Amino acid sequence: MKSKKIVVGNWKMEPHFVADAARLFMSVKKTAEKLTSVKTIVAPPFVYIHDLKKKYKGENISLAGQDVFTEMGGAFTGEVSPLQLMSVGAEYCIIGHSERRKLGETDSIVAEKVQSALKVGLTAIVCVGEDIRDQSGAYLDFVANQLRATLSKVQKKNIRGLIVAYEPVWAIGKNDALNTALIQEMAIFIRKILSDLFGQEETSDVPVLYGGAISGRNAEDIMRNGGVQGLLVGHESLNVESFREILKIVEKV
Ligand code: PGA
Repeated sequence: MKSKKIVVGNWKMEPHFVADAARLFMSVKKTAEKLTSVKTIVAPPFVYIHDLKKKYKGENISLAGQDVFTEMGGAFTGEVSPLQLMSVGAEYCIIGHSERRKLGETDSIVAEKVQSALKVGLTAIVCVGEDIRDQSGAYLDFVANQLRATLSKVQKKNIRGLIVAYEPVWAIGKNDALNTALIQEMAIFIRKILSDLFGQEETSDVPVLYGGAISGRNAEDIMRNGGVQGLLVGHESLNVESFREILKIVEKV
């Protein structure tokens, strides 16, 4: 069976109130539950996950944490463990998002978080991406190093729990995504690194997503020509009409 395409909505620290989160989710659900070729993953703030999970029982929509801690429990004030995330109904978890890295998260912390998430059966959406792009091509080495470091604790047997999200940091929150041909170049490059690390056959099903300024204007081109299996959507996932449009576009490509 062909794997479904993936669309992740990263709500970041929005919306401000639980009632708004419920409304947003119900509107997304209306479209997402009807799709046959797309898996929709909603990543709300932790505090909303439990409530939202109760609103949908099917398999088309899943919930994700936007982060997770390295440990399963203990004296770590303010952190949320992979087990806790699972117990409120999350099946996925974004790890190493550039906004977390800006707050001090290093590749080695990301690597530990990925290991802990996979251990309990969460699917880890591991974010990589360069801060700047110039003519020298240094961004390729940068992404390769990030991937090798953040996946350094992943065991071959857990590869099925892995999704890689390529997000050029400079495109996040902007109006224009990276040029599609360059997204395709990076998707191929990421596949090569994954294959060198874990074997070609083992990694051929690992989805590679693109994120950074996704909108209804660029989703079709990126899905058709970007060499990726899905999209990670930030600010446009908070705009219901726009997010539903993106979902419908991805369904038909
Ligand atoms: P954006 O964010 O779609 O607002 O660029 C993407 C992300 O941060 O994951």
